Amino acid sequence: MDATPNTASAKLTVGDKSWDLPVRQGTIGPDVMDISKLYGQTGMFTYDPGFTSTASCESQITYIDGDEGVLLYRGYPIEQLAENGDFLETCYLLLYGELPTAAQKADFDLSVTRHTMVHDQMNRFFTGFRRDAHPMAIMVACVGALSAFYHDSTDISDPQQRLIASIRMIAKMPTLAAMAYKYHIGQPFVYPKNDLDYSSNFLNMCFAVPCEEYKVSPTLSKALDKIFILHADHEQNASTSTVRLAGSSGANPFACIAAGIACLWGPAHGGANEAALKMLSEIGHPERIPEFVNRAKDKNDPFRLMGFGHRVYKNYDPRAKIMQQTCHEVLSELGIKDDPLLDVAVELERVALHDDYFIEKKLYPNIDFYSGITLKAMGFPTAMFTVLFALARTVGWIGQWKEMIEDPGQRIGRPRQLYTGATRRDYVDMAKRK
Ligand code: ACO
Repeated sequence: MDATPNTASAKLTVGDKSWDLPVRQGTIGPDVMDISKLYGQTGMFTYDPGFTSTASCESQITYIDGDEGVLLYRGYPIEQLAENGDFLETCYLLLYGELPTAAQKADFDLSVTRHTMVHDQMNRFFTGFRRDAHPMAIMVACVGALSAFYHDSTDISDPQQRLIASIRMIAKMPTLAAMAYKYHIGQPFVYPKNDLDYSSNFLNMCFAVPCEEYKVSPTLSKALDKIFILHADHEQNASTSTVRLAGSSGANPFACIAAGIACLWGPAHGGANEAALKMLSEIGHPERIPEFVNRAKDKNDPFRLMGFGHRVYKNYDPRAKIMQQTCHEVLSELGIKDDPLLDVAVELERVALHDDYFIEKKLYPNIDFYSGITLKAMGFPTAMFTVLFALARTVGWIGQWKEMIEDPGQRIGRPRQLYTGATRRDYVDMAKRK
């Protein structure tokens, strides 16, 4: 399913000179003009801050049609995967390209389960942090530190080591995430339990305490599993591109994923569900919605409706629809009938979807709009929301990293710039400076 080269060409004309640029076609999605030789041929760069029109790589993992609200993992619609499969099946699919047979799935589940423990020295690493450290700060550090613990899976030229690193990462992220949470709230770490499925094990590590029995709710575990599936990959988003860029220099996979976590932390990306929940609390009551909607529309006010808008989806985010349903399932399982935040969320969504500003700019609720309410109801503090996102996205990051390393055309990522600084000038002695 390789991209078709040179089926057509585009003509670039600057002044009295013209160049033909090859046009490549993917299996679906827009064609791309191949400008990789442009600088050599024309002496010019292209300018695209924020990469809004730039395909940075060739990939066979995830496809998004933002105008139609479509998300496919390896060709399978997200709705079907979330409805019928489990998270580890999605991980297998993303990593290997095909849905597993029953035997392959059992093998994969076993490998992941066997790698859930982290080196015991990691415990000491945790105690170096202040108790009030943000769990994302702990995750960036601890995931990066994995490269200091697992030397036998950092040789990126060895396919077997790449695979072991991938399995390790998927298996250990829940353990580290739960440890970050437990440390943050001052409770003892709970070790992984290998007789539990992936999501139940994570809930157990987060919410069990040594002094009493904790029973994982199958409804909550299923809901969390769905949340993980929805967040597993999203093609070349900011954090994935960060992982690819870090990996392009040959850095080890643990360090690359740590870079991805750092990028995900930002409020414009993974931090948005935390920001959305804060905003809903700040609004507090449906009556105050017009005031906040007006602020979001005001050009002179930096306020934005958190959980609305997306760089790629200019239609309803397909994950947001599933998330909205999951949110209702979780609230009903927990017997939460009148959640004021949910009331504000439902009304805000209604108002925004009927407002000309949001309609014209194609600003729809994104996945983060409902995920915050759901995770809060499950008992996770807001500081953990992005950590859960990182946990789920790890398979996407590692799958994209593997694809990049295995691409024979892979080179170090090195964008160029439009320089607008000072031209050459001579050093001035300090005494003569004004
Ligand atoms: N509220 C109000 N106005 C908005 C919003 C919003 N949430 N999002 C975009 N706009 C407006 C902008 O002001 C801009 O208006 P203008 O054309 O008059 O200047 C226009 O819509 C386009 O916005 P951009 O920022 O250029 O769009 P971009 O694609 O760069 O940004 C982003 C996408 C970052 C997601 C943006 O919509 C946003 O900040 N949303 C809120 C944060 C959020 O929910 N992030 C989650 C992203 S999803 C994820 O990471 C899983």
